[in-house]
Amino acid sequence: MSAEPTVRRVACPGSFDPVTNGHLDIIGRAAGLYDEVVVAVLINQSKSSLFTVEERMAMLTEVTADYGNVRVDSFHGLLVDYCRANEIPAIVKGMRPVGDFDYELQMAQMNRGLAGIETLFMPTNPEYSFLASSLVKEIATYGGDVSSLLPVSVHKRLLSRLDELHRPDGQLR
Ligand code: PNS
Repeated sequence: MSAEPTVRRVACPGSFDPVTNGHLDIIGRAAGLYDEVVVAVLINQSKSSLFTVEERMAMLTEVTADYGNVRVDSFHGLLVDYCRANEIPAIVKGMRPVGDFDYELQMAQMNRGLAGIETLFMPTNPEYSFLASSLVKEIATYGGDVSSLLPVSVHKRLLSRLDELHRPDGQLR
């Protein structure tokens, strides 16, 4: 009787408010290395976001649809607890030059110390090394062109959400 093959599973966690081409690049590269990639969207009640968790998950599901081994989920609480409950031994994170290093290393060491969950850092594609969801939202809010930084469907949703928020009658959603 042969033993069940072990599924090499990894988590790509984040806020994804919204998913950018930088995130998608890391998810796609992780999908090429692992059997299954779980994109884990943090439910954070204390952080205000432009999109609901459901909307963020819907966008992620849409833009990762071509990968047969990527699944989108959400979690609250500690990432390591989510990983343990879902038999995910490792986390893949994109690493942008300089700025990310300290905090990412701190979290990686904490997550390994807490639960033995490993973190693998993937250098971001230089094309997206300056990219962050927060910057994209700020630039788009003031009318800057962010179309090259987001998947087409996400760009459309972002523009329509900003449009809803800045109606001429001043009515916020
Ligand atoms: O996209 P973000 O906001 O940079 O993602 C940060 C995220 C979600 C990966 C991080 O905040 C996280 O893991 N949060 C879950 C809570 C947790 O486990 N905190 C302890 C980290 S050592």
